[in-house]
Amino acid sequence: MTTATKTKPARASSAQPKDATAMLRADHQAVSELFEQYEKARSSTKKVQLVAQLCQELKVHAQIEEEIFYPAFKQALKDKELIPEATVEHDTLKSLIGQIEGVEPDGEMYDAKVKVLSEYVKHHVKEEQGEIFPKARDSSLDLVALGARLAERKAELLAQ
Ligand SMILES: [Fe+2]
Ligand SMILES: [Fe+2]
Repeated sequence: MTTATKTKPARASSAQPKDATAMLRADHQAVSELFEQYEKARSSTKKVQLVAQLCQELKVHAQIEEEIFYPAFKQALKDKELIPEATVEHDTLKSLIGQIEGVEPDGEMYDAKVKVLSEYVKHHVKEEQGEIFPKARDSSLDLVALGARLAERKAELLAQ
């Protein structure tokens, strides 16, 4: 009997093109780590810094999905359900972001908003990674080319 050996995923070098779903997954992971750091943060300064980073990451991520990944997926899969739902979820996310971005952390309501945002992001990520990405991988989409476009647009937005 053979057992599959589990190898640690190799760290992709920046020169290596990441496919679209791998790239978006990496973003999700980075955001989830920032939320974990927020949970542990005690000082307002640290919270402000983490929230600023979170909001920027989330906004840029949502924008590249909406500009590049979602339309490509929608077209390739003739989707009328997953992408419209994900787009509505993005709108809710943006509204939550709007409630905490640039606001001084003033106690429990602020923490509550960050907590709800983190739970909502978790739910949204679950839908993308559980439903949208597997369908994208089974489709005719050129995920490497799409990944390159996402990376290029992300760099452009982060430079602004
Ligand atoms: Fe995403
Ligand atoms: Fe999304």
